[in-house]
Amino acid sequence: MKKLLLMLAACMIMIFAVSFILSPERAYSEKPQKKKMGTVKAMPDDVKKVLQNDCMGCHSTTGNPFAKGQLNLSVWDQMKPEKQAKKAEAICHMLRKNSMPPKPFRDSHPDKVPTDKEVDMICNWTSGN
Ligand code: HEC
Repeated sequence: MKKLLLMLAACMIMIFAVSFILSPERAYSEKPQKKKMGTVKAMPDDVKKVLQNDCMGCHSTTGNPFAKGQLNLSVWDQMKPEKQAKKAEAICHMLRKNSMPPKPFRDSHPDKVPTDKEVDMICNWTSGN
């Protein structure tokens, strides 16, 4: 009898596991909705100003080919909302880590390094959707 119960329990677990594997949509679709991913608010003017001053020397159509390949702020308005959201997140991430602007550029252009206050403002925008 004990063995039978154990078998039953094992069967139930199997059924759970299989149904979970067979319905990946259900497993994954709820996450992004909770985080409200996929959109970001229109870029506020004060954010635009900082990015223009500090970043667009490289991240623009006329900028550094490597930089604009990853992020071209000249065409921000033409980007799909999903791409904007992804790039906005990357921008905040880079700024929080002090990874952008690149170190040599920071050293040679201290006036083009966003201040902590500016980073807060930018990250406020990127997560404020
Ligand atoms: C001196 C040129 C230069 C400046 C100035 C610069 N970047 Fe970059 N950036 C790069 C280069 C080159 C890359 C791509 C290579 C790499 O990741 O290191 C890059 C990559 C990035 C990425 C990664 C994009 C992605 O989708 O993964 C982000 C985000 C970024 N930069 C944000 C910024 C922000 C925000 C500023 C302004 C505060 C800035 N950068 C200023 C050169 C620059």
